Amino acid sequence: MKKRILSFLLAALSMANLFADEGMWPLTMVAKLQDPMQAKGLKLTAEDIYSINNASLKDAVVRLMQKSGRMFCTGEIISREGLFLTNHHCGYGAIQELSTPQDNILSNGFWAKNRSEERPANFNIGLLRKVEDVTDQVLNGIAINQDEAIRAKAVSDATAKLKSTLVDALGADKGNYVVEVVAFWGGNRFLAMYYEVYRDIRLVGTPPENVGKFGGETDNWRWPRHTCDFSMFRIYSDTANKPADMNANNKPYSPKKFFPISLKGTQHGDFAMIMGYPGRTTRYTYSEGVRYLGGKERPMRVQVRRDIMDVYEKYMKQDPTIRLMYSDKLAGLGNYWNKFNGEAGELSKPEMIEKRKNLEREFENWVKANNKQDVYGEVTSLYDEVYVSLNKYGLYPVYLQDGIANSQPMMFAMQFSALTRDAKNGKLGAEGINMAKMMQSGIDDMFKEFHAPIEKEVLASVIRHLYEDLDHANLPISLTDLVTKYKRDYKKLAEYLWKASIFTDKVKLQKFLASPNLGKLLKDPIYAIVTGYNGKLNGDLKPIFDQISAKKVRADRLFLSALSEMYPDKAMAPDANGTMRMTYGTVMNYDPKDGVHYKEFTTAKGYLEKFKAGDFEFDAPKNLLDLIRNKDYGQYADKDGELHTCFLTDNDITGGNSGSPVINGNGELIGTAFDGNWEAIASDFGFMPAVQRTISVDIRFTLFIMDKLGGASHLLDEMTIVK
Ligand code: ARG
Repeated sequence: MKKRILSFLLAALSMANLFADEGMWPLTMVAKLQDPMQAKGLKLTAEDIYSINNASLKDAVVRLMQKSGRMFCTGEIISREGLFLTNHHCGYGAIQELSTPQDNILSNGFWAKNRSEERPANFNIGLLRKVEDVTDQVLNGIAINQDEAIRAKAVSDATAKLKSTLVDALGADKGNYVVEVVAFWGGNRFLAMYYEVYRDIRLVGTPPENVGKFGGETDNWRWPRHTCDFSMFRIYSDTANKPADMNANNKPYSPKKFFPISLKGTQHGDFAMIMGYPGRTTRYTYSEGVRYLGGKERPMRVQVRRDIMDVYEKYMKQDPTIRLMYSDKLAGLGNYWNKFNGEAGELSKPEMIEKRKNLEREFENWVKANNKQDVYGEVTSLYDEVYVSLNKYGLYPVYLQDGIANSQPMMFAMQFSALTRDAKNGKLGAEGINMAKMMQSGIDDMFKEFHAPIEKEVLASVIRHLYEDLDHANLPISLTDLVTKYKRDYKKLAEYLWKASIFTDKVKLQKFLASPNLGKLLKDPIYAIVTGYNGKLNGDLKPIFDQISAKKVRADRLFLSALSEMYPDKAMAPDANGTMRMTYGTVMNYDPKDGVHYKEFTTAKGYLEKFKAGDFEFDAPKNLLDLIRNKDYGQYADKDGELHTCFLTDNDITGGNSGSPVINGNGELIGTAFDGNWEAIASDFGFMPAVQRTISVDIRFTLFIMDKLGGASHLLDEMTIVK
């Protein structure tokens, strides 16, 4: 009997090991997961990972934030002197900004030999200090199916009030904190997140681009992978260890916790945990939503982006200066071009939609069987209405994001519309004139990454997409008239705009700002196009989009609430929302398709296979190839004698997790997560246990590149290395 129980237990355990667990778990749920995690090989306790009162692993995880406050990636602290690791593609923008054609550290790589050589990086980092459930405060007295407009206003008022109370309670610290009140489960729950924001961040080192981005867009989202996607920065603080503006007297920040680094490597089936900041998932998207995204929205975005990327690449390949100038823009467009392309394919598969429909039928039956019509009866029809509208109008805002926002002259014109805010009687007001004066000093910055031949072709391409893809009835006549006049010759049209508009040239804009004039602005053809487009979105189309969003918010909230009632005992993770999450799993290979097996790791041999001298994406430094040919791996070699480069785990992550620590059962760092795989490219819409994998850089590859290629072995001294 005993034996049978034991073998049953073992079977259950190995079953647990066979199937990956869905879930980007909020920290508040980690305590409940201790048992299944320990069953997979975790040697720590839940309290070691997330503790309310003591230092825990969460204190070594950093949130990368733009100066504007927008979060974009994750990082992990790896020394008691504030050194942290993130992806190369996360540091990319900062590294590009620090590069010039004369000192091109993006292309050549860079390692500070000492603290004084570390260079100011243009972003902040946030450290999560406190999490607080504030659902009762936010939803106080608000019923679940209250009229949507009333509810939305009550929630936003309560959130704003609460936020200022929470911030005020911080007293002297408040200038250093950002408090976010974040909706979970479609607005059925709210948590307050307290971030202490450090503002003096410096670049410590980066591999050359052809290592940090080896394989480019061709390998992006793909396995087998060899990209050494990391960069290193340091957090600086004032002498009291508090955030401070950039200042030479600041000192390295001393963290509550940092990750020791394991050189022991990984084996198939080893426990692996990832902590970080996944941005957004929509796993509960309605079936018609999946159909709309897969059949229309994603394919159109792919085309708009691809056409712009083709223009960038054509010029970037001709000239290294242009390559440096447009590198960050291309990477940003390309990453989601690639992803949307994959999603378009996956989301239009009939079984994808069928799976949703099954769940929706279950939901409807449950509503009927339990007499819940008065609370949940409207969900299905709300969703249906939302997607009928989106099919008709959905591309208008999307083309603003993916089209207009990628044309610099168009965006300049958009910015300039602020000058007209206090215009009266055909003249700019005092505020507008003052603003124009202030903008004069920013003009060099505006044109810093601007290559006229590229921008002219992009402009033609964006206008072509607007006219050819959208219903003309909802386009401004400033656009349709011009296209008709030029008989859809978009090249000629762009030539005309280039000459006629002030937004295509620095000197013209300077002249305008020196003596700003409303009449001239309003007559500008690019200005007329973008403000006309915006005018439609904020005019005729506005009530339509307000309705779409109100209905969708309501349907999502009700649907998610119903699901939690339908499955009260199921541990479910809420959609990602830019808050810290933990996901656990194991080091795991997979079969991408019938007859093909992928190993769970790659080695440096792949560099020799993929290397193409002078290629845009597959070039590599000669020194690196020599090190690999000589197998000069030092302490970074695996026991099999090879240098392991990247590896796979079955953790559940998404964009925003980039740069996240991959942690073994002892709480040591084994890698840095940087990508997902092609077969699970649509994982934001549903977890795919059999094929969904996280791609990480093996920490030994990172240290090898830092030490042997970069000559920065001095940094090892401040790390804790476990051999
Ligand atoms: N696919 C990665 C992610 O979204 C980003 C990779 C960046 N590399 C690139 N070639 N664009 O997490």
